[in-house]
Amino acid sequence: MSSTSVNQIIDNFSSKAEFYDQYSRIQKLSGQMLLERIPALSYMRVLDLGCGTGFFIPELQELAQHVTCLDASEKMISFVKQRYPTVETVVGDFDNLDSCISTNYDLIVSNYSLQWSQNLTRLFASLKRCSTRKSMFAFAFPISGSLSELKNAFVEIGEPGFINEFYSEEQVKKALDEAQLTNYSVSVTTETVRLVYPGVLDVLHSISKVGAYTNTNEKYEHKLSKTILKNLINHTRAENNANVFNISWKICFIIGTRV
Ligand SMILES: C[S@@+](CC[C@H](N)C(=O)[O-])C[C@H]1O[C@@H](n2cnc3c(N)ncnc32)[C@H](O)[C@@H]1O
Repeated sequence: MSSTSVNQIIDNFSSKAEFYDQYSRIQKLSGQMLLERIPALSYMRVLDLGCGTGFFIPELQELAQHVTCLDASEKMISFVKQRYPTVETVVGDFDNLDSCISTNYDLIVSNYSLQWSQNLTRLFASLKRCSTRKSMFAFAFPISGSLSELKNAFVEIGEPGFINEFYSEEQVKKALDEAQLTNYSVSVTTETVRLVYPGVLDVLHSISKVGAYTNTNEKYEHKLSKTILKNLINHTRAENNANVFNISWKICFIIGTRV
């Protein structure tokens, strides 16, 4: 991923921030699944990486006395500030945590954001520096296998590369190994969630309305033209039952506890 695409990622999320809560169906589901995996202890300080509009702040406030929300999008952070004026906010890049976080947290969470990281190893390694001695982290993000139906449909109409490559489970585990989290007990599990949409256009709509449409594949130069869209709609109508398009999300859950 080039640095241009990082700015592009953030600009695209910013431009759709106002629609995010309305269209973030899979993100909400994943966030609930993540919360269920966090032991209901009394935490002092929680840090949310890639917080977006702060949809899960009420739940985080129940878990911890102090909530800090970090996002690289100023627009997303302005939503958080408006809704939760007492929550601490940081406009910052989770791939450079050392430059924007100086406090130690006993809970670090992230939902549906780390798939945008350009350097998972560095991100995981920086957890050691911003955690307290007794701490845990809990992350959920989509990995390869996600959006496979949409990806296949694009391949079948001769447009491979339109859907971003997600990290594979092996790459995530390798990044954790390389980060040398020796003082942590870490578990990595995956779960596949299937959502049903009336058609392929609704799927594309759900991705674009939350701002998650940046193509990080440097080699892919096409825009989603009307012709490509028409081909895709016709192809998927012919291939699928009318009014049903299934989408799979393979979600990776990483839970780490400092031992
Ligand atoms: C799909 S949203 C998830 C928002 C929220 N966690 C939720 O569960 O609703 C992804 C968020 O990650 C943020 N993001 C992407 N790359 C980032 C980076 N390198 N550093 C910080 N935030 C980033 C985006 O601005 C966006 O708000």
